[in-house]
Amino acid sequence: MGPDLKQRFYTPGQCARDIFAVLGSNVGNLPATQREVVPILNRLAQEKNLLDIGLPRDGNHVSQSKWLYYDGEIGILTARCPSDVGVPVHNHGTWEIVGVYKGELEYRLFNRLDDGSRDGYADLQIIEDGVMRAGEFSVCPLPPHDIHGFQARNDDTWMIAVVHGEFAEERLYFDPEKKSYIRRHQKAWRRSLGR
Ligand SMILES: [Fe+2]
Repeated sequence: MGPDLKQRFYTPGQCARDIFAVLGSNVGNLPATQREVVPILNRLAQEKNLLDIGLPRDGNHVSQSKWLYYDGEIGILTARCPSDVGVPVHNHGTWEIVGVYKGELEYRLFNRLDDGSRDGYADLQIIEDGVMRAGEFSVCPLPPHDIHGFQARNDDTWMIAVVHGEFAEERLYFDPEKKSYIRRHQKAWRRSLGR
């Protein structure tokens, strides 16, 4: 039986329990899990109070972020996205699903075509390039295809993300046109902007 998404109130805790149920019914098949988690997040994004709840989170690219749920395996977060600067193309070391709670987000998702054997070299192919609006989500797949970049279209844009496992301490920041990357601490970009 799938999750009951018709409840009047739907909390981040219930969302996490439903995600665990999906994980349990798709053991060994994370792509299927991710597809099944999207409608669960669509339901969570209908809740009106998500910016009023949660605990402070030290974001990687954003200064305003909160944990709606965190247990060391599943994390559900909100984050305010900058509109004055684009978040550069980066990877994570784990899968996540990202979407928009409020506002609009210019969003690009990439596949990695090379085998990763050449240091500093990465051949990326754009597989999603569009605008995500409130209630819409996109699956950022398993490594090595866990690569995206984005920029808010307006100042009051908030995303919701679900992370499975911890982000890698160091991540790769790509220049898709130059087919190159650099390795940086996950918070180095934000700190370099003084945020
Ligand atoms: Fe990211």
